Amino acid sequence: MEQEAHQGSNGSAACLKAEGLAKHFGGLVAVNNVDLAVENGERRGIIGPNGAGKTTFFNMIAGELDPTHGRVYLYGEDITRLPTHRRTHLGMARTFQITNLFPNLTVLDNVLLAAQALERSKFSMLRTIKSHRHIYDKAEEMMRRLNLWDMQNLIVKDLSHGYQRQIEIALALVENPKVLLLDEPTAGLSPAESAEVVSLLKELDAEITMLIIEHDMDVAFELVDKLMVMHEGEVIADGPKEEVRANQTVQEIYLGHD
Ligand SMILES: Nc1ncnc2c1ncn2[C@@H]1O[C@H](COP(=O)(O)OP(=O)(O)OP(=O)(O)O)[C@@H](O)[C@H]1O
Ligand SMILES: [Mg+2]
Repeated sequence: MEQEAHQGSNGSAACLKAEGLAKHFGGLVAVNNVDLAVENGERRGIIGPNGAGKTTFFNMIAGELDPTHGRVYLYGEDITRLPTHRRTHLGMARTFQITNLFPNLTVLDNVLLAAQALERSKFSMLRTIKSHRHIYDKAEEMMRRLNLWDMQNLIVKDLSHGYQRQIEIALALVENPKVLLLDEPTAGLSPAESAEVVSLLKELDAEITMLIIEHDMDVAFELVDKLMVMHEGEVIADGPKEEVRANQTVQEIYLGHD
């Protein structure tokens, strides 16, 4: 699988691939030669204890960090040095571990700003964005699909953490990405809020490929088919989730931490 994965367009080709990806911060090796191949439509989890290198790995996939070594491919195209907005144009979107919303704006205005971010013409004021029907329609369609339309006029900072997370996911989805990267979508949420976010993610189009960093093994189990486990920058297991959970090293290193 690993050898032929980033060729061609048949169904089994990897849509997202990392080869020997590494990041050094001075003397610290945060990510050490990580390989990953995610197929079209797959949902892959990345788990591991604090400081394992999960977010650093993600940031190299998303283009926020330049790798020290290694390459990243999206649909066979080498995107290793491509800036984030070019990756977005190729169909990649992400959410952040730390919230990225405008707290003093309404839900709708946050979604509108995200919806216009990829437009060729740039708008300097929200009022101008609202006058562009196709942007407004795109925002409305996404919010209705996620059952968030009723919240359009609420100010983001007044919402629960659970709803803020859902809005962040809406922002990532407004450009109809083919590949969605989620960094701890349930972090800091109550069990009930976490269940809402999990059900929202499970209801998304099955064709969207997802890479999900998750702290909670149970949440990861609900969302993904395969799991990659990182520890101290290295991959210690990668495969079908049941196999990974049964893996002795994973039990000692990962489960031992929680
Ligand atoms: N910009 C940076 N400069 C220096 N060191 C960094 C930087 N970013 C991350 N690190 C270090 O790299 C290692 C991996 O961090 P990373 O944030 O990728 O871990 P993580 O698996 O996402 O952890 P968490 O579960 O806490 O989110 C840690 O030791 C961290 O302190
Ligand atoms: Mg992290």
